[in-house]
Amino acid sequence: MAKPTDTLEWNYSPSLESTNHIRLKQQYGLFINNEWVAPSSKKYFSSTNPATEEVLAEIAWANEADVDNAVKAARKAYETVWSKLSGAERGKYIYRIARMMQERAREFAVIESMDCGKPIRESRDVDVPLACNHFFYYAGWADKLAYAMPHKKPEALGVAGQIIPWNFPLLMAAWKIAPALAAGNTVVLKPAETTSLTALKLAEIIKDSGLPPGVVNIVTGHGDTGAAIVNHPDIDKIAFTGSTNVGKIIQRAIAGTNKKSTLELGGKSANIIFDDAPIDQAVEGIVNGIFFNQGHVCCAGSRLFVQENVADLVIKKLKARMESLYVGNPLDKNTDIGAINSKEQLETIEKYIRLGKEEGAAIYQSACEIPSKGYFCRPTLFTEVSQSHRITQEEIFGPVLTIQTFRTIDEVIQKANNTPFGLAAGVWTDKGSRIFNLTTKLKAGVVWANTYNKFDPTSPFGGYKESGFGREGGLHGLGAYLK
Ligand code: NAI
Ligand code: MG
Repeated sequence: MAKPTDTLEWNYSPSLESTNHIRLKQQYGLFINNEWVAPSSKKYFSSTNPATEEVLAEIAWANEADVDNAVKAARKAYETVWSKLSGAERGKYIYRIARMMQERAREFAVIESMDCGKPIRESRDVDVPLACNHFFYYAGWADKLAYAMPHKKPEALGVAGQIIPWNFPLLMAAWKIAPALAAGNTVVLKPAETTSLTALKLAEIIKDSGLPPGVVNIVTGHGDTGAAIVNHPDIDKIAFTGSTNVGKIIQRAIAGTNKKSTLELGGKSANIIFDDAPIDQAVEGIVNGIFFNQGHVCCAGSRLFVQENVADLVIKKLKARMESLYVGNPLDKNTDIGAINSKEQLETIEKYIRLGKEEGAAIYQSACEIPSKGYFCRPTLFTEVSQSHRITQEEIFGPVLTIQTFRTIDEVIQKANNTPFGLAAGVWTDKGSRIFNLTTKLKAGVVWANTYNKFDPTSPFGGYKESGFGREGGLHGLGAYLK
C-alpha cells in the first residue's frame, strides 16, 4: 500500500479483499450457443492483472469464422425462439440473470478489480451493483414496450453486434445486453482484449439461467474480432463504446448498409466551479470526477474551470485532498486509485504528462509512493494551461486534470464548449437559475449539478459531436434497440 504523505499523521492498515473464493479457468473458449467452443483460429491471448503483471487466464481470439458462427447462432435464436417469446417471458430470463449476478456479486467485483485494475471499493459499490440494476431495470420494460413507445408498434431489430471497452467491463456488458434482450434482440458481444473475464463469468450465469442457446453469444478477441462483427452482413445493429478513432472507422464501415448504430465515444468534459459553490463538496466532486477509476472514464471531468476569485482556495484544497489519496493495490479496500489498465495506456498517460510540461504548464503530483510493480500513475494536476494546449484538448483517459479560471458565465460557456467532444459536464453553484442557464448552453449529453459521475439505469447517457450519438440507459436506451 502506498503511503499517503506528511499531511496525514497516520496510515490505514492494509485491508485486502480475499481472492480465495473466486473461480477462474486457466483457459476460456468462446461462448456460442450456450457452449464453450475452441476458436477456429486456435489462437489465445493472455489477460493480465495490471497491478501485478501476472497472467490471470488465456482467452480465445476469435476470427471471422468464429464471429460468423456466433452471428449464425444469434440469428437462429432470434428467428426460432427469442422473437416468438412474449415480453413477459423475456423479462423473466432477464430478472433471473440480474438475481444470479447479485448472488455472485463479490466474485464479480474481485475479478473485475484483478483484471481491470480498478479499486475493489468501486467494483464492489459501483460497477457490479449498477450492472445488476441495469438488468433489473430493463427486465421491467420487456413486457411494456407498447407503453414505452405509445402510438408505435415497437419491434426488435434482430441481431445486435456489441463492442465494449476496458474501463467498465461488466457494466458496459450490462448496458449493452440488458436493453437489447428486453427489446427482443439477440446479441453477439465482444469485450475488450484486456478485460474479458467478467463478461466470460457473465456467460456462465447466462448458461446457468437457462436463457435459450444463441440469445447471447460472447466472442473474445482484439480489434480484428471487433471489425469482423462490424463487417458481418447479417448484423442489424452495431453498438460501440470506445475511442473516437475506432468509432469513426466503424461509421465508415457501416455507411451505406442497413445497420443501425449507437456510438459512445471519448470525452473531455468540463467541471465548472462558481464562487458560490460549497467548496469542500466541490473539491470532492472534482476528485471523484477525474481520479475515480484512474480517470478511465469517458465522461471524466478532466477540464476544471474555477471562477477566478476562488481559484487559489480551490487549488489549495484540491492539492491537500490529492495528498490524502491512496494509490496502490486495487484489492485493498483503502485504495482510491488502482492500476492503470494496461502498459500501453500508462505510456499514453505518461506521454501526455511529458507533453504538458513541454507545453509550459505547471505540474503538481501528489507525493505518494506507488508500487514498483504494475502500472500506476500519481494523481496529476496541471495549472497555467491554456485552451490551445494539447492536454486541454485531447482525451488522456488517466488521472490527469487541467485547471483554467474564468470570470463570467459567458466566458466559461465558451471555454467549456471549445472542444471537439461533448459527453458530459459538471456545474457547481448555489444558484438554481444559473444551473438551468448552463445546462441549456453546454454542448454535453449529460450535465451534473453539484455532483459528478453519478449513474442510474433510468437516465439516458450519451454524447454530442465527436463523443458519438445515440443514448444508452432509460427509455432512450430501449428505443435504440427497436424499430
Ligand atoms: P478502442 O476503441 O481501440 O477499443 C474499444 C473496443 O473496440 C475494444 O473492444 C477493441 O477490441 C475494439 N476495437 C478496436 N479496433 C476495432 C475495430 N477496428 N473495429 C471494431 N472494434 C475494434 O480503445 P483503446 O485502444 O483500448 O483505447 C484508446 C483510447 O480510447 C484511450 O486512451 C481512450 O482515450 C479512449 N477510450 C475511450 C473509451 C470510452 O469509454 N469512451 C473507452 C476506451 C478507450
Ligand atoms: Mg486484464
